[in-house]
Amino acid sequence: MSIKVLLGVSGGIAAYKAAELVRRLREEGAQVRVVMTTAALSFITPLTLQALSGNAVRSDLLDPRAEAGMDHIELARWADLVLVAPATADLMARLAAGLADDLLTTLVLATTAPLVLAPAMNHRMWLHPATRENLARLQKRGVRVLGPAQGDQACGEWGPGRMLEPTEILDVLPLRVSSDLAGKRVMVTAGPTREALDPVRYIGNRSSGRMGYALASSLAARGAELVLVSGPSALSAPHGVDLVRVETALEMEAAVMERIGDCDLFVAAAAVSDYRPRDRAGEKIKKDRTELDLHLVKNPDILARVAALPEGPFTVGFAAETERLEEHALDKLEKKGLNMIAANLVGGRTGGFERNDNALLVLWSGGRKSLPLMSKTRLADALTDVVVERYLAYLSSQDS
Ligand code: C5P
Repeated sequence: MSIKVLLGVSGGIAAYKAAELVRRLREEGAQVRVVMTTAALSFITPLTLQALSGNAVRSDLLDPRAEAGMDHIELARWADLVLVAPATADLMARLAAGLADDLLTTLVLATTAPLVLAPAMNHRMWLHPATRENLARLQKRGVRVLGPAQGDQACGEWGPGRMLEPTEILDVLPLRVSSDLAGKRVMVTAGPTREALDPVRYIGNRSSGRMGYALASSLAARGAELVLVSGPSALSAPHGVDLVRVETALEMEAAVMERIGDCDLFVAAAAVSDYRPRDRAGEKIKKDRTELDLHLVKNPDILARVAALPEGPFTVGFAAETERLEEHALDKLEKKGLNMIAANLVGGRTGGFERNDNALLVLWSGGRKSLPLMSKTRLADALTDVVVERYLAYLSSQDS
C-alpha cells in the first residue's frame, strides 16, 4: 500500500529541493500532502508544490476554508510519516520546545506518525550549542534526523548544513505500509557481536547493522510488533521498535531465547561471531611475547536454535558468502531448517558490509527471487514484501 507522507517545508533556501522531493515521492507511489511555514512561502510557491503533489498546499492553522475540508487533526491522523525538509534551525527549536504556534508544529504534536527531519541551515547555526541541544532533545524523543551534509552553502561558506539531496532522503525512508502483519510479533537480530579478549579488546566484524535496522523498520511499517535485538551499532532505534542492545553472541542468544516464545516471525540479520575467546583476560594483555595464541570456542548458532524450536516462529536467515552463493545458501536453508534465506555476495561489486546498498538472492523450498542492487532501505522493503508473501502462504498452508 502506498505510504501517506505529510511533507513539511520550512523557510530556508533549500526549500527549492522540496519540489524534487515531492516529485520523487510520487514516483515511488507515495501520496503527498504539503504543509509550508509562512517563511517557506518566501522561497517557493505553494502552486509549484500543489501541482507536483496533486493536493492543495496548506500553511495557515486558522484557515476556515481549509479546516472545513480535512481539518488539521484529520491531517495529522492521515499521515503515515511526517517528513520536514528542509528543517530550519528555528523550526527545530520550535519542535524541541513543543510549540504549536503554526500549522506544521501543531501537526507534529497531533500526529502519532514517525517524524523525520532533513535539516538545512548555515553551518554556524547548525554547530551552535542551542541547535545541538535542540537536536539532542528531538533525537531523544525518537525523531529521526537525516543529514545535514557538508559542503558549499548558499551563503558562500563551507561546512555542515546542506540539506541532503532528495534521492539521499528517499533512499533511507521506508515507503511501504500495510497492516498485513497486524497482531504479529516479529523479532529481528542485527549488527555485529563483540567477543572480549580483555577489558579493552574484542573480536568483532564489519557489520554496521544497517540491513537489520532497515528490515525492522520495514516490518514494523507492516503493522508488526517489533523486537530488535542488536549488537553494537551506531544506529538509533527505528520508530515503534523495541530495541534490546547486547554485546556478545551469548548475550544475543539469551536476549533472543528469553523473548522468542510469543514471536511469529524471526529474521536473523545479525553477523554473529562464530567463535569467542575461551578465556577473557582480567587485565589488558601485555605485548611482552613475540607470539600470542588465542584459544577460541564455538558460539551457539542462534538462528539454528530458534529454527529447531518446537512450534517455533517462521524463520528467515541470511547468508553472506564470498563464492558459490546459491549452493552455500541452499545448504544453510536445509541444514538450519529455515523457512527462507536471503543470500548476498560479500566483498564484491554487489554490496555487503558497511555499504549503503546491496543485492539479495532470496531462496525458499520450491522458490527463489532475485532482488537487484539498491539502497538497503529499499532492499528491506522489497525483502519484506517477499517475506510477508511467503509467511502468509505458510500460514494458509498450516490452516488447510
Ligand atoms: O552459518 P552462517 O553464519 O553463515 O549463517 C548466517 C545466518 O545465521 C545469519 O542469519 C545469522 O544471523 C545467523 N547466525 C546466528 N548465530 C550464529 C551464526 C549465525 O544466528 N552463531
